[in-house]
Amino acid sequence: MPEFIREGSVAIQPVMASRIPTEFIDELLARTDIVEIIGSRITLKKGGQNYTALCPFHQEKTASFSVSQDKQFYYCFGCQATGSALKFIMEHDHLDFIPAVEMLAAKTGMQIPREEDPQYDEKRRKQKSLYEILEKSNQFYKRQLRHHEDKDRAVNYLKNRGISGPVARDFAIGYAPKGWDNLSRKLAITNADRRLLIDSGMLIEREEENKIYDRFRDRIMFPIRDLRGRVIAFGGRIIDAGQPKYLNSPETRVFHKGRELYGLYEARRATQKLTRILVTEGYMDVVMLAQHGISFAVATLGTATSSEHIGLIFRLVPDVIFCFDGDEAGRNAAWKALNEALPLMSDGRSAKFLFLPDGEDPDSLVRKEGQQGFMARFAECQHLPEFFFDALGSEVDLSSLEGKAKLSKLAMPMINRIPEGVLKQLMVNELAALTGLETDRLLRAATQDESRSGTTSRNGRRNRSPQPRQHAQLSIEELAMALLFRQPELVDQLADAEYAPLDDLKDKDSQLLKEMIRLIRANIGMTPQKLLNYFNNNTDYERLRRLSRLEHLLPADQLISEYQGAIRKLSERSKEQSYQSLREKIKEKPLSELSEEDKQAIRLMVHSRRQESSE
Ligand code: GTP
Ligand code: MN
Repeated sequence: MPEFIREGSVAIQPVMASRIPTEFIDELLARTDIVEIIGSRITLKKGGQNYTALCPFHQEKTASFSVSQDKQFYYCFGCQATGSALKFIMEHDHLDFIPAVEMLAAKTGMQIPREEDPQYDEKRRKQKSLYEILEKSNQFYKRQLRHHEDKDRAVNYLKNRGISGPVARDFAIGYAPKGWDNLSRKLAITNADRRLLIDSGMLIEREEENKIYDRFRDRIMFPIRDLRGRVIAFGGRIIDAGQPKYLNSPETRVFHKGRELYGLYEARRATQKLTRILVTEGYMDVVMLAQHGISFAVATLGTATSSEHIGLIFRLVPDVIFCFDGDEAGRNAAWKALNEALPLMSDGRSAKFLFLPDGEDPDSLVRKEGQQGFMARFAECQHLPEFFFDALGSEVDLSSLEGKAKLSKLAMPMINRIPEGVLKQLMVNELAALTGLETDRLLRAATQDESRSGTTSRNGRRNRSPQPRQHAQLSIEELAMALLFRQPELVDQLADAEYAPLDDLKDKDSQLLKEMIRLIRANIGMTPQKLLNYFNNNTDYERLRRLSRLEHLLPADQLISEYQGAIRKLSERSKEQSYQSLREKIKEKPLSELSEEDKQAIRLMVHSRRQESSE
């Protein structure tokens, strides 16, 4: 057995304990997608309703591990392991409860409250009253649409735009009459109410003059509701002309624009089982599509489509269609959405892009073409890979070698952000077909993009702060380590004798590789994450973590030959080094003065080199 495989050492995680409110854990899990969490750690395959995989908690050859997106839990038919996304992280990453919660909280951007925190109760109470006052405001606006003396102004506007009574009711559309204090007179009865109305964004406070006034005046009111149907904000459209055309509630404790989608609650309520969601830009688009029986549309609230938006959608349905203007601005916005979608494109999900004719939006189009006509456009949608290669292809000249190289340089870092699976494979294959490069070369040459979250604009410029371009072609050691992270069992693909020459390699990366091989052999059922955890305190941890993320897309049989090839090359290198150093020794001294050990080494070396040259 080679030296490095023998000794043993184990890394340990620190232990902590504290109380986190259960409501928070519920909320955290509601904002987390178990498929995304598990899918980023092991390879999931979509099978029917659920996802399946080889169980990471016991050794098996056929997949008995399943993940339910609907129910948001995993279950293994083999070893009965089961639980939520949180439990999975704890078990799989070997984290205690608190660090696991912290990891999820960081991912969702949530602040962890502690129960011993006296402010926590206070915060919750406050939040509850915010929802209440927003609901009261909503009731107030709805009443105005029915009873206010100027109600015809609003009713006629809605009629002219083609919105019927039932649809207005489904969307709880209301009317904020003209005037500065309609809402405040009615709802700001106590000082506490007044404060709440200000904090919820319904009233604006002029502190210098100690004055308050209604934020929304002479507007059609669209309440924005969260998935539980609670009103969290409003959008108000001016009746007739005026500026701004649309006014939104400000960000508050309960409203974060980049996270919410207008119409999502209504879409879920309208359909027994939502299967797809259409993303538009405007309130009116959503309402008008619903008016024409297309009740699975939502709108971003005047912001670009964020990864949170897309995450939210994929938590509910596997298919998303983005609707954009066909012009340059629309295509740029679509490209941004594509960038946000890439890391979320696990197997079973699809994203399509619908570009509308000039000057049209879904509202105007569905009015012209009706439900049938509009839905027929879904057939002309560009699927994500199509839009991707279309957009990138237009940036380069594919008839030249240079153009092809540029395309692969632009495309690969983006393709690498897609989770392992069919889509990624498909896109690598497509890129290979377009460039004439082999898929494994594309994968290997793809410099591993440091900031996976960064986006690349269509001309290849980074949108975030400029970073030194990394052209880190992997060294052989790094390739071997990446392969082991991908599949630790590869270690068993070579015999002890084939590892033996590695004993003499003393450089840092060889040492790391040897340590990995040793750890895998010493620990039955080693998983990539466990393996990485062993290096927690290593100065090279960051680089190793990156290597562990290099998702090689080679079919399993090639993984083996790649690995064997890498180790054999290292063995060769090691033998060559020993040979060279012996030759140095021979130069310095006559053979008779060499140690017995060296003489033996020379004999072996000469023997093995002769054998090789005769092969
Ligand atoms: P209509 O004219 O009512 O059909 O609206 P639209 O949806 O066609 O308007 P547009 O395409 O101009 O805007 C799309 C979305 O951008 C709206 O639904 C709003 O969310 C947002 N928006 C538009 N104008 C404004 C504005 O003046 N201020 C803010 N904050 N948002 C706006
Ligand atoms: Mn419009």
